[in-house]
Amino acid sequence: MLKEIKNICCIGAGYVGGPTMTMIAAKCPHINVHVVDINVDRINAWNDPNTDHIPIYEPGLASLVNEARGKNLFFSTDVDQAIQDADMIFISVNTPTKTYGVGKGMAADLKYIELCARQIAAVATSDKIIVEKSTLPVRTAEALKRILDNTGNGVNFDILSNPEFLAEGTAVNDLLNPDRVLIGGEETDRGKLAQQALVNVYSNWVSKDRILTTNVWSSELSKLTANAFLAQRVSSINSLSELCEVTEADVDEVARAIGSDSRIGSKFLKASVGFGGSCFQKDILNLVYISKSYGLNEVADYWEQVIIMNDYQKRRFAKKIVETLFNTVSGKRIAILGWAFKKDTNDTRESAAIYVADYLLSEQAELVIYDPKVTKDQIFSDLEYLGSRSTEENRDLVEVSNSPYDAVENAHAVAILTEWDEFVTYDWSKIYNSMLKPAFLFDGRRLLSDELMREIGFEFYKIGKG
Ligand code: UDX
Ligand code: UDX
Repeated sequence: MLKEIKNICCIGAGYVGGPTMTMIAAKCPHINVHVVDINVDRINAWNDPNTDHIPIYEPGLASLVNEARGKNLFFSTDVDQAIQDADMIFISVNTPTKTYGVGKGMAADLKYIELCARQIAAVATSDKIIVEKSTLPVRTAEALKRILDNTGNGVNFDILSNPEFLAEGTAVNDLLNPDRVLIGGEETDRGKLAQQALVNVYSNWVSKDRILTTNVWSSELSKLTANAFLAQRVSSINSLSELCEVTEADVDEVARAIGSDSRIGSKFLKASVGFGGSCFQKDILNLVYISKSYGLNEVADYWEQVIIMNDYQKRRFAKKIVETLFNTVSGKRIAILGWAFKKDTNDTRESAAIYVADYLLSEQAELVIYDPKVTKDQIFSDLEYLGSRSTEENRDLVEVSNSPYDAVENAHAVAILTEWDEFVTYDWSKIYNSMLKPAFLFDGRRLLSDELMREIGFEFYKIGKG
């Protein structure tokens, strides 16, 4: 029988779980949505009466939370209760790359997923539809099912794969107007009914022709493939950015020329200092690991090259700064504008800025960092996570500033690492005047006009321009 969903639980109140559940609550007033997380601080922040303090910065999210919170949207740490009450449970916990043991540095660490499954199995007393929202290696659903089906308490679990395609910074709009919603289900009568129940939830605001149903494995693999293709485009254009620099071509002109071919398309062709974010690298490494584990070495090598190119691009940019500053940055003050992995988010996971900064610090540069949304604690924690030097050394060499104009004062160079809109609006003459001369400006996001910057007096370098 088709189940009408009245209570949803989501385990994991992160960048995916938080916004996605907020949208479901906002669009489905007849469904109660409980978002739970083991992190007490995070849940407290989601419950902060001032929604400017919710833990995730996303344009438009705070007002949606304001509308639904306390009505049919709840944030709590009571995971057991939320599991018990739910008809449908989304699992949206993080799946980082393994940092130990077999598959270290490549495979997805599924320990949190497994813990969730065991907890659901232990607590559930009625049938549940389990929805994988986290990005997972292909065939994870099978492992989930085996854990859940071995509880012996007669409860039935149906497992769906419903990968999230929202991009950070545009999450609200992506959730509101998704290109597609993908729902993978088991090809059995029960599986089809479970799939239909989730289709019905999304149908409250997404048109039916945008809701795709597939089998579970296709759905799981499609998520990895989508991210791999997107990242591949960035690495492809970034590989050409270097060729443009040596041949005096302009990578934006090349991107425009190829992007107007409708078969190629114009999106995702912006050369940059390298892609970041929690997904691209992790999902490609995952794809590489899975391919290798099936003995498909050529397939694995093909996709690994996307990561190799991305690492090279970050290193190349940092190296360019050192070389341009007369082959040494030791003791030189370099202002870094932008720490988030892209604009309009406070997320810094795998941000190119972290790696560029680390390279410059290894060359003994002194860094002053400014980002409109990232906190000082986060910046230091990102640097510390790399383990390249001691906490004291990081604190000695790095300063975090609340003002871009303070950050650039007496700097030898400025490097733009995130494409925040506000950077374009700065008074660049004022910045030039407050810097040491020659004043070097490195644009890792192609934000600024070369003519204008050179006219002001900057020694200007822009990725992908000869
Ligand atoms: C998501 C997906 O789940 C990941 O697979 C995808 O590739 C990227 O997006 P995200 O929402 O960005 O992850 O992760 P994060 O912001 O770290 O949120 C995960 C939350 O799950 C954290 O708040 C963490 O405390 C919580 N969690 C983790 C639990 O509640 N229980 C656990 O056992 C583990
Ligand atoms: C990505 C996918 O787009 C999304 O569908 C999936 O659900 C999660 O992973 P996200 O990582 O949030 O989303 O942001 P995205 O806009 O894809 O950007 C990823 C990185 O690529 C950023 O560092 C961005 O600056 C970089 N990028 C993107 C470029 O350098 N050039 C481009 O043309 C596009």
